[in-house]
Amino acid sequence: MATEMQVHVGLEGIVAAATRLSSVDGKAGELIIAGFPLEDFADQATFEETLYLLWHDALPTAQQEATLCNNLAAQRTLAPITFAVIRAAAERKADVMDVLRMATSTLGLDVTDDQQAALVLVAQMPTIVATYWRILQGQEPLAPRPDLSHAANYLWMLKGAEPSAEQVRALETYLNTVVDHGLNASTFTARVIISTQSDLISAIVGAIGALKGPLHGGAPGPALDMVFEIGSIERAETVLRAKLERGERLMGFGHRVYKVRDPRAEVLARAAQKLFANDGDKQLYELVTHVERTAVALLEQHKPGRNLQTNVEFYTALLLHGLDLPTELFTPTFTISRVGGWLAHCFEQQSVGRIIRPQSVYTGVKNRAWVAANERH
Ligand code: ACO
Repeated sequence: MATEMQVHVGLEGIVAAATRLSSVDGKAGELIIAGFPLEDFADQATFEETLYLLWHDALPTAQQEATLCNNLAAQRTLAPITFAVIRAAAERKADVMDVLRMATSTLGLDVTDDQQAALVLVAQMPTIVATYWRILQGQEPLAPRPDLSHAANYLWMLKGAEPSAEQVRALETYLNTVVDHGLNASTFTARVIISTQSDLISAIVGAIGALKGPLHGGAPGPALDMVFEIGSIERAETVLRAKLERGERLMGFGHRVYKVRDPRAEVLARAAQKLFANDGDKQLYELVTHVERTAVALLEQHKPGRNLQTNVEFYTALLLHGLDLPTELFTPTFTISRVGGWLAHCFEQQSVGRIIRPQSVYTGVKNRAWVAANERH
């Protein structure tokens, strides 16, 4: 009977897909992407290699990678209608994620098949974000550069200066690190939409909507704000203690799945260390690592045995800040990476060929007597 069905609020613990794309082990602190432990490839691969790996389940040859790079570079320029949406949104100073969602919808007008749609989606998201951001800052948008890699071109379009090799490496490490993460909310959304035999653009627009929520993609900005609020190593313990005493959460710590240090935090901490070693704000780097040590120790006192450890958002904040990205672009930059994983999941779901259609338990009343409109009081 329906009323005896158990409701799995939040679908916690429910296995709703089989995937070869990523494996998340929260107890061991292990993230595997298409067979590779994250820490073995994130700081080596280009983002294009990672895309190829996810989409084809194999590493590309040099020729295959070059072809993917060229195909992406050829699709970077926005259509006039996409540009018009961005300009109209800038007049209202819309949130960047909302603009990304609206502009991505327009990409469906010119695509003819799934392969082209996937390329257009990946290639044009950085152009959408950079174009919007420059217009919002009162700057002229820049044309994409086909001679630059995906990551380098994004930094170029944002700043109008060619990034250093270290900056490109740091961004690629970030993009590789957050490209996929099991059946998270936005990936599930994309799979649900594509399972109805809808199109890729619709699936990705829905996934953007899911990602923009603060419970999913929105924590790195507040994590950085917390570090700036602390301001100096001497103040760290007092400020963090006071927050915990007020019942506030320390941003960038704790995770639903990981009960050890998030492996993505590990990879991003190393990337940040390299980036800041060269030309970064060394004082900020020292402060961040001190805040991390202090926060983890205080959280252990505050919630003994709960293993509240550093999560991905903490070092995302430091790394993206080190690349001079404003906090408003943290979640959009996450999206620029995650779209690669969403698309891979859509392809996988298409091969399953079965609509995702769970059930619900009815908790309303039954057998109500219908009353005509003119007889209701
Ligand atoms: N600061 C203070 N207390 C915390 C924190 C934190 N960062 N995280 C968890 N706690 C507390 C909880 O309130 C809970 O206390 P209670 O038992 O008295 O209610 C206890 O520790 C155990 O919490 P968990 O069950 O382990 O955590 P939960 O799964 O409920 O929440 C979450 C996970 C939402 C990530 C939480 O740790 C949090 O809010 N962290 C801060 C925000 C943040 O960094 N978000 C980004 C997460 S990364 C990502 O999602 C991509």
